[in-house]
Amino acid sequence: MKKNIILLGAPGSGKGTQSALLVKNCGLSHVSTGNLLREEIEKKSELGLRVQAVMESGNLVSDELVTELLRAKLDLNQNAYIFDGYPRNMAQALRLEELLEGHEYLVFNLSIDLNKMVNRLTNRRSTKDGKHIYNLVTNPPKKEGVCDITGQPLVQREDDREEVIKERFEVFRRSTEDLLKYYSEKGRLVNIDADREVEVVHKNIVEKIC
Ligand code: AP5
Repeated sequence: MKKNIILLGAPGSGKGTQSALLVKNCGLSHVSTGNLLREEIEKKSELGLRVQAVMESGNLVSDELVTELLRAKLDLNQNAYIFDGYPRNMAQALRLEELLEGHEYLVFNLSIDLNKMVNRLTNRRSTKDGKHIYNLVTNPPKKEGVCDITGQPLVQREDDREEVIKERFEVFRRSTEDLLKYYSEKGRLVNIDADREVEVVHKNIVEKIC
């Protein structure tokens, strides 16, 4: 059975981009709590209406809510997952530890020069479901505003405005130290330089899981 993977990293570090490559090349299943929450907002479900303002301000949604949303998607006996955007704090890490009991996993910390982060995010465009990610500077679509693969329109995320990006980074900075320490002490942490080219970052991750 393949190993599950947890991707830790600041907003814009490339978690979604790397997840798409790992799905394609390594047959892992992708679960992104950000995408799950945005799906609920798009559906205008009761949950979506509750979380919309929190997400657009750059803060975290409640642990209970996001954990329940994630748990409902998992079938760990059948699939190995990439956890993208979860855990975000120690409460979530402990919850995930319970969910992963008896299953192998590795944690990748995608580190990025923070000056590049704002640039990456303000130039990001993606399909509404977040599955296809582009960058106007480094990875533009062939036809402006249209996904090369699905033909869907490309959108800019509400939380990719500069002032919200700064808040998201602050939230990330406050919780990440504990998480890194926790996984490092467990001997599960792999540090990856996520400032390198997309394919190089992918290769560095794949080397550790095959
Ligand atoms: P979420 O959707 O998880 O956002 P995030 O963690 O801030 O990360 P991003 O999706 O912005 O960036 P990424 O690392 O995936 O980068 P990407 O590959 O797109 O969360 C959003 C919100 O949802 C949170 O703020 C919170 O409110 C809520 N939420 C989610 N999970 C939660 C949880 N567990 N608990 C509570 N609340 C939760 O790449 C970015 C750009 O860079 C793209 O344009 C891409 O093309 C480009 N790029 C990527 N890699 C490279 C590279 N190597 N070189 C050059 N460009 C690159």
